[in-house]
Amino acid sequence: MSARIDQLIAATTLDEKIAQITQVDRTAITPEEVAELGIGSILSGGGGNPEPNTPQTWRAMVDAYVDASRRSRLGIPLLYGTDAVHGHSNVVGATIFPHNLALGAAGDAELVTQIARATAVETAATGARWAFAPMVAVPQDPRWGRTFECFGQDPELVAELGAASVSGLQGPGPGIDVLACAKHFVADGGTTWGTTGGAQWVPWWVRAYGGPGWHIDQGDARIDEATLREVHLPPYLAALAEGVGSIMASYSSWNGQKVHAHRWLLTDLLKEELGFQGFVVSDYHAIDQVSADYHEAVVRCLDAGVDMVMVPFDHERFRTTVRAAVEAGDLPLERLDDAVRRILRVKEAMGLLDGTAEPLPDPSVLGAPEHRALARRAAAAGAVLLADRSAALPLPSDATVLLAGAGADDVGLACGGWTIEWAGGAGPVTPGSTIADGLAAHLGPRLVATGATAEDHRPLEGVTATIGVVVVHEHPYAEGLGDREHLALEPAQAELVRAVADRVQRLVVVVLSGRPLSLGPVTDLADAIVAAWWPGSEAAGLADVLVGAIPFSGTLPLSWPDGDLVSPSRVPDPTPPPRWLPGHGLVAGRSAMS
Ligand code: GLC
Repeated sequence: MSARIDQLIAATTLDEKIAQITQVDRTAITPEEVAELGIGSILSGGGGNPEPNTPQTWRAMVDAYVDASRRSRLGIPLLYGTDAVHGHSNVVGATIFPHNLALGAAGDAELVTQIARATAVETAATGARWAFAPMVAVPQDPRWGRTFECFGQDPELVAELGAASVSGLQGPGPGIDVLACAKHFVADGGTTWGTTGGAQWVPWWVRAYGGPGWHIDQGDARIDEATLREVHLPPYLAALAEGVGSIMASYSSWNGQKVHAHRWLLTDLLKEELGFQGFVVSDYHAIDQVSADYHEAVVRCLDAGVDMVMVPFDHERFRTTVRAAVEAGDLPLERLDDAVRRILRVKEAMGLLDGTAEPLPDPSVLGAPEHRALARRAAAAGAVLLADRSAALPLPSDATVLLAGAGADDVGLACGGWTIEWAGGAGPVTPGSTIADGLAAHLGPRLVATGATAEDHRPLEGVTATIGVVVVHEHPYAEGLGDREHLALEPAQAELVRAVADRVQRLVVVVLSGRPLSLGPVTDLADAIVAAWWPGSEAAGLADVLVGAIPFSGTLPLSWPDGDLVSPSRVPDPTPPPRWLPGHGLVAGRSAMS
């Protein structure tokens, strides 16, 4: 503990202490208010972008808030946070890396560190020094809409790659370049299907999105302490050993108790038993779910061990509620001081209090060729060759190739959720290279990129080829929007596969998805099946493994179901038995399991 922090806390008024633990969405506060109040943190939630959305406008936006915080009475710089979860993925022009599930399939910790380092550089170049990453959940049920954000179902793999991500983000030195945030503590991946819900549960933005979903995300982890420690805690031990500076609490519950108000988890276990020295940040609007009585919700969460609250909108109500709670003796001042101390300790480790923070790179570094080359290499490394019954791959150098499927030439479908917008979306959402781009470069005139989709088979008319490559996909989603009971491939996409099968001698199916899908009849139609996950803005890397320029090396980071899962299910022993087990993958022609 530095004397500087003690002096700062002694000089800070009650209102300034409360402002320091307040995190506000950028749409709900101006830089002038930040300067007046001394707010401790601002965030851009998923899709919280300036208009126009460019690296330069991002930098100008973030600088305005940080500069304002330096104009506050004590001049404590604020931390600007964003979901840089697979690159600085809100920003048009940023390098979008494969989502964590693909990195789990690649299983290469050094690659993860390199990706996190590139992500840190691109994030800092926009002025933001806090990434709400890595997600270190250990998913137990692939019907969960956040499976793609996870490295896999093996706690040790998640621990290794999560720590590698923390190292890349926070930097090699003793200081912290870009603050990492291990999330969501704890057992967010261990909830049971059908347990999401509760009167005060449904936040406004869920109603805004409406539709299906929200069946297991933010649900209840009905597991004993031994399972929590064995399955869900190891990634946090590794992240703490790597010096992670922040941890985000989970929306979910443990045996019926909201984690955000769970003192044993957030304080007794995380801070006292495990010795976590950084700070715990709440999730977006999460404290409101603890009680319909906001005063009670605020007191229970802060008292349980939440240090910074992602309000994220009505910061005045939050601040006045905390003041009232302290003045009424409901919230001990010592708890507030401890929260402020933890936040200031991290800001000090980042060099923000003494002006020694790493200089910010120029925004022109976003999308740098070396970063895109890294993303392309990662896309190739994360691809898993699930089956290849007639040695259809690599594509023969003399073969004509028929390419079909919307995902073959769509950057948005290759990037998946948490890309530019919260839930992502199809289309040319950001610059990048698609599978079609990669195959065109490799195959030249031997490629017939038909542009046929599940909705329109007409481009197939009159076309035949030696080999067909059909790219099937899941439409992007985020969080509970992606909770799906049936993981079957859309029938219309299966029909496209069938239509192509009739026109070629051999057929390759490439799956763009946030998780394993039940492929049904496609499994028998295809000579080869490749799991590509959500490979990011440089999906041309998939072409590199399809043509054999890079050998397949990926293996499954979680079970691949065969048909619908029966609830309640834990992936390690799902019902029915999985089609392929973790570790499966044809690596350079032989099974990785052999
Ligand atoms: C979201 C997510 C969390 C994210 C935060 C800020 O609801 O649960 O992972 O970091 O809000 O966008």
